[in-house]
Amino acid sequence: MNNNWSPSSWRKKNALHMPQYLDEKHLNKTLEKISKFPPLVFAGEARVLKEKLSDVSKGKAFMLQGGDCAESFADFHPDNIRDTFKVILQMAVVLTFGASCPIVKVGRIAGQFAKPRSSATEKINNIELESYKGDIINGIDFNEKDRNPDPNRLVQAYNQSASTLNLLRAFSQGGFANLNKIHQWNLNFVKDENATKFTEMSNRIDECLSFMQACGINGNSVRQLNETDFFTSHEALLLQYEEALTRIDSTSGKWYDVSAHMLWVGDRTRQLDGAHIEFLKGIENPIGIKVGPSTKTDELLKILDVLNPNNESGKITLICRMGHEKVGSMLPNIVNTIHKSGKDVVWTCDPMHGNTIKSNTGYKTRPLKDIISEIHQFFQIHRSEGTYPGGVHLEMTGQDVTECMGGLQEITDQDLQNRYHTYCDPRLNASQSLELAFLLSDFLKEEKLLSKQSSNL
Ligand code: PEP
Ligand code: CO
Repeated sequence: MNNNWSPSSWRKKNALHMPQYLDEKHLNKTLEKISKFPPLVFAGEARVLKEKLSDVSKGKAFMLQGGDCAESFADFHPDNIRDTFKVILQMAVVLTFGASCPIVKVGRIAGQFAKPRSSATEKINNIELESYKGDIINGIDFNEKDRNPDPNRLVQAYNQSASTLNLLRAFSQGGFANLNKIHQWNLNFVKDENATKFTEMSNRIDECLSFMQACGINGNSVRQLNETDFFTSHEALLLQYEEALTRIDSTSGKWYDVSAHMLWVGDRTRQLDGAHIEFLKGIENPIGIKVGPSTKTDELLKILDVLNPNNESGKITLICRMGHEKVGSMLPNIVNTIHKSGKDVVWTCDPMHGNTIKSNTGYKTRPLKDIISEIHQFFQIHRSEGTYPGGVHLEMTGQDVTECMGGLQEITDQDLQNRYHTYCDPRLNASQSLELAFLLSDFLKEEKLLSKQSSNL
């Protein structure tokens, strides 16, 4: 690690998309307090995730990263956490069973609060206030009190993350994720063909489990069948908060950001000489880098040198988010150059952020067909470059929302107003997420088949 690095060395660099706190003293006091709070995750867990991502980079597993665009204080409820967890479990089992592939599950959860915005301020009727930047920074209502960045929100975000993680740990390890309970992962409000397909698959899994039982293998004593590994991640945007939660791990003597297992840098803050890259270069956690259409391949190569100087496997995930119209022309060159450079990365596709449009009815939305098109092209590009399409990064929820268009429910622009609840970007609902999982499982199956055929040639 660079000797000049410290958890606060980012402060000497240019930090984009950060709020201006009016009461610096209050902020510093709060950060001081948070720096003494217990870690939310443990360094050893981040190391396990890195090992699993290393398997992904070798084509031996697939990464499923998903959750809200922005978590909120108002929607904080155990049912919402449970339902998002259920959908991720359902998607993972569809992929594991359908494509015989281990799935690395990473939530955008338990800390995904801070948002970069296209404009720092918002003007309505000649009143100009700070834009809403996520519940960890300010409130969504358009009034001065809400919109002024408030340091107390940092503590509330930490507390919400801690109890969300507590519940997720219980769900993952306390019996809920047991494959024998697969029928209980269904969400009652999903009653379409996606649900039917899932029930049929669950019945087949039941048969496999009964067969194993009859052969003398007690599923309840096999950890892989009655527990699951679930990791957390968020965008490392609000660096003061991340700094306060960056600690030396006593086992390895190295720095870890203990706010989440994995952190990623957003498309708008990944400047080589910027504060966010400076912060991320000193921590040992697995790191994601959003790769959008403005990415310069030369700069990306330099960022990889800075963030992963030893080319450690599983350390870097490149989260590509070009949009269905640009991915075909922009991604091949990036994949080819990085591949030729010998850098070990996990390639994933975020088919959400390049496919956001405004509906005729005025809502920010994403057509499912564009999302599918980007993922499909992503798989094809990796096939022709000889690289492995290692995962997807989705904005999704277990709630029955109407935010993205299309899918079996045929959500139209007229339907968006019915249940449009997101605090930031539009999310796939439970049915759309399942639909995507079935499709992904077909893509992945085909990928495995083709790569087997080519290795037999
Ligand atoms: C996000 O993931 O919510 C986000 C803001 O993405 P990006 O940095 O890719 O625009
Ligand atoms: Co988003």
